[in-house]
Amino acid sequence: MTTAAPARPAAGRTTAVSEMARLLRLLFEVEREFLRTVTTLIYRVGEPELKYLLCQHAWESAGHARFLRERGRELSSFGTTESVRDSFRRIFNEATGTCTQDPLVLTAGFYQILKPALLSAYRHYLKVTDPLADWPSKKLVEEFIADEDRHAREIAPYLVGIDAREWSLHLTQALDDLGGWLGQETRLPLAANYGWQHAQTPFSHPATCNRGKYPTCSSAFSQDPTETPIVRSWLVDPKTDARVIRLMVYVWLMLEMDAVDYLATVFVDTPNAPFDLHHDMARHLWDESRHSQFGFRQLPKLGVDLMTVEHSLDLYNILVQMPPHERYAMMTMEFEAGSFPTKALVMDRVRELNDFEADTLLAFDRNDEQNHVRYGHRWLPEIMALCGETRPTDQFVKATQAKFKEFAVIHGNRTPHALPPERRLTGEKILRLVGAT
Ligand SMILES: [Fe+2]
Ligand SMILES: [Fe+2]
Repeated sequence: MTTAAPARPAAGRTTAVSEMARLLRLLFEVEREFLRTVTTLIYRVGEPELKYLLCQHAWESAGHARFLRERGRELSSFGTTESVRDSFRRIFNEATGTCTQDPLVLTAGFYQILKPALLSAYRHYLKVTDPLADWPSKKLVEEFIADEDRHAREIAPYLVGIDAREWSLHLTQALDDLGGWLGQETRLPLAANYGWQHAQTPFSHPATCNRGKYPTCSSAFSQDPTETPIVRSWLVDPKTDARVIRLMVYVWLMLEMDAVDYLATVFVDTPNAPFDLHHDMARHLWDESRHSQFGFRQLPKLGVDLMTVEHSLDLYNILVQMPPHERYAMMTMEFEAGSFPTKALVMDRVRELNDFEADTLLAFDRNDEQNHVRYGHRWLPEIMALCGETRPTDQFVKATQAKFKEFAVIHGNRTPHALPPERRLTGEKILRLVGAT
């Protein structure tokens, strides 16, 4: 056997490691791009259960990306930056579609083309890695494969009967040009006349969010018990029946769906965010979707027909007109930071009912919200910098609060009640429902 000295002996010794680090890097970039763009489906699909599921999958992808980065950084040559290569970015931008496309067709694009390709990439990784030498990555990837399989099963019922053949073919061609996410398959170069749609029509958010079959309105809060289900003065009035307060707070929680919808808009608007910002926003988003589910699951148990509860659209409609750092500032520094005193009173009143489940849900809601305000303090300065905002944070927040008030006059209160007063849930109806006087 001849032993010619290799040209670069030091690099040669760790080639096996750097090759696996290269693949982990690609997988990390796919997961973080998926998170950045799949979130654009959330406010475009109408079915609440589908919104909740997308939030959950977005959060799980954030987890995958985080563990891939953590493991990747243990290996030399993973790289210290978190940027995503253009060849991936343009596929995910393409998959985002436009706001005139059917959101379920776009969902099929993500879940029937891009995610199965990710699953194949994970399977390829397992096949080519040494099960003992790279045991830590192998264990992670095995778990991610199980997650990807489950995501496919969970989404399937929402895609029954959706004809996405044309769109799927379009995305498949873009992906085939790379030979799969890891380049592990034969490359089929793109036809010269392939049209990148996002280059023609860049994505923009729809002016309002989709709530599917559910009735809508501008706001669920007022002082008028004949108009809205949540009567502000009743929430804090010690004379209000605690059962009425419990129902009102469940409506409030369910309608945190607005937070789900407007927070979901921030990811795609901040393509150069550090990954940890998107990671924490994904957690924030998933928390809000759980809070909304608290109401969505509990209200029917307490006798409320969900088709009588109007969904308030004002916050989305107003905030989507403002840039992403202003949306995030209003959310964390105004709505969330300002909600604690009222929620504390509400929790004390609900405790009178000895409803262990309600107490538990509200306790976790409070805990989550405290974290959200912490995220706000951590990330607002960063997101301001990303958006070119140079004022001191408190000055910026004050100016944004004032701007929101102006925008509320222009863009708010535009969604009339979908239901006549006799059919919609109102404060008065809640009184009757619980048999209070
Ligand atoms: Fe919340
Ligand atoms: Fe929150």
